[in-house]
Amino acid sequence: MTLSPGSCRIAIFASGNGSNAMALIQSAKKLKNVKVELVLSDKKSAAVLGKAQAENVKTYLIEKTTDRAHHENEILNILREHQIDWIFLAGYMRLLSAHFLKEFSALHQGQARIVNIHPSLLPAYPGADSIARAFQDQVSESGVTLHYVDEGMDTGKIIRQERLRRVEAQDLSSWSQQFHQLEHQIYTDFLKSLEASCKE
Ligand code: GRF
Repeated sequence: MTLSPGSCRIAIFASGNGSNAMALIQSAKKLKNVKVELVLSDKKSAAVLGKAQAENVKTYLIEKTTDRAHHENEILNILREHQIDWIFLAGYMRLLSAHFLKEFSALHQGQARIVNIHPSLLPAYPGADSIARAFQDQVSESGVTLHYVDEGMDTGKIIRQERLRRVEAQDLSSWSQQFHQLEHQIYTDFLKSLEASCKE
């Protein structure tokens, strides 16, 4: 697969609410060479599916009904069909296998083209509920990490990290909102940075 003429085609994988997916979709609308081609979810109940459809973005619900290999091969076929250049994970609650990573990077001359956004200063607090766990530990600061995706749980090479201080009296809900705002900023900045490398 070579870069598609006219744009970089982005696939967003998400399992839940989809606030990052929506920020990416809105941001891509203002870009000339970057297009959110599809949103893919593994969860029927994921709010992101309806939200993306409301923005006229094609959605796929690919549930894992049998084994992991079958599930990932179904997804790879969709990515090939749409000539996807980059995958943005946005609350996708599944690890990707070495096979999947290898197959996708092989479509791009071995380049890493899968990224994830995570609400902690990795390697601290990988996995689920990172914001709540850091809050419970009463840390004085945490942050957001943008990283490439490898087989591990939030272990890929870090692209960017930004710190977020916790004010003593702040509750979890208002602190969480700050994380999400920062995530959207960092993720859309990265999306915009692709504009220059995407061919017209
Ligand atoms: C975000 O906190 C993201 O960093 C993490 O999962 C959450 C997804 O939130 N990986 P949303 O569905 O984008 O609102």
